[in-house]
Amino acid sequence: MRMYDIIKDKRDGKRLSDEQIDFAVKGFTCGDIPDYQMSAFAMAVWFRGMDAKETARLTHAMCNSGDTVDLSLFGDKTVDKHSTGGVGDKTSVILLPIVAACGGICAKMSGRGLGHTGGTIDKLESFPGYQTELSTERFLDQVSDIGLALVGQSGNLTPADKKLYALRDVTATVDSTALIASSIMSKKLAAGAHSIVLDVKMGSGAFVKTVDEARELAKTMVDIGKSLGRQVCAVITDMDTPLGYSVGNALEIKEAIEVLHGGGPLDLRNVCTELACRMLELSLKIDEKEALKKVRGAIESGAAFDKLCQWIERQGSDAKYAKDPSCLPAAKNIIEVISDRSGYICRMDAESIGICASMLGAGRTVKDAPIDHAAGIVMNAKTGDFVNSGDVVAYLHTNTEDYAQVSKKYLQSLKFSSKPPKALPLIIDIIK
Ligand code: URA
Repeated sequence: MRMYDIIKDKRDGKRLSDEQIDFAVKGFTCGDIPDYQMSAFAMAVWFRGMDAKETARLTHAMCNSGDTVDLSLFGDKTVDKHSTGGVGDKTSVILLPIVAACGGICAKMSGRGLGHTGGTIDKLESFPGYQTELSTERFLDQVSDIGLALVGQSGNLTPADKKLYALRDVTATVDSTALIASSIMSKKLAAGAHSIVLDVKMGSGAFVKTVDEARELAKTMVDIGKSLGRQVCAVITDMDTPLGYSVGNALEIKEAIEVLHGGGPLDLRNVCTELACRMLELSLKIDEKEALKKVRGAIESGAAFDKLCQWIERQGSDAKYAKDPSCLPAAKNIIEVISDRSGYICRMDAESIGICASMLGAGRTVKDAPIDHAAGIVMNAKTGDFVNSGDVVAYLHTNTEDYAQVSKKYLQSLKFSSKPPKALPLIIDIIK
């Protein structure tokens, strides 16, 4: 078999066989197939697409290109959650303790921030001492004892995806449904959970910008999971506006703690309730009504917050940071962003707001650079709110003195109108 023929077949719109896909993934992972051929392959897939069977095979081949996690010890109760990435998305920090407090099992791996989007591992490292690497034995012991653990992605998980993603990033081949779906699902399948809830974000702060694209991506991922023996549910949620009011690591942790105490912003609470119910339905095989009762009970009784405390203590931090969030990293400067216009905020460019937070120190401009956990933005007005000229629309939290540009960029990310904008649903669709 030759990689040349595989590229040519896909270029000409032919269906690839399982053997051809396995050959390409294996050869690329071990270095026999060079980057230039794999880039040409990715571009052919970008133009021609893949059908459901090809996409599932690509996922399977990438999943098995490296280590996989064995969670069979926990039967079919393990449930994972994946967000396709957004701004202000701190849902994992809230969902895992809720689900574990209700009897579900979450053994999860997460990533760091990518581009304008934040990463759960960076957020959790706002808890001083939080360890993102655990031995397999410690990881499984923790899950057995308290029902949850969350670590960074292990070194040799889906190496084929790691290499292919890096190529796609520089060859304009990221935005292909087959490639995105197989990339995400290969990592989720390798991480071992029996059930997976996907939060497919849609809008200005997300990877996919339209409902149709989001539905196609969600359906493709659900079908892949099913064809490979997992239970999958996808919830399409709005990411046209950042989620909650805070963007930036420690600031988002503080907001997550508010939700676990029963408060916090309504949009964040609603998305978390929806996702937690879906996770419990799959993990505990209960219906929606019972799941909702359990989620509410776990928050009202304090069991979910207690679970957060146990979790961060087991992973090397101290529960005092959750009990008194004023101990979390805090920036020395808090700068008001003042509106120079009056009107209803009719649109927020969530991607631009994510970039503003990153410029304040909350994200990275180069790979592996340190980040400032205290930095970020607390919004004071969001889409639909009326603002007068002179009102504070946001607070910038930063340890740098270089915030004038950010303030300007933040204001440019807001669009105003004289009439209130039409409210869009937060939960756009659910695909089972
Ligand atoms: N996230 C991933 O892990 N892979 C993609 O291709 C896109 C988003």
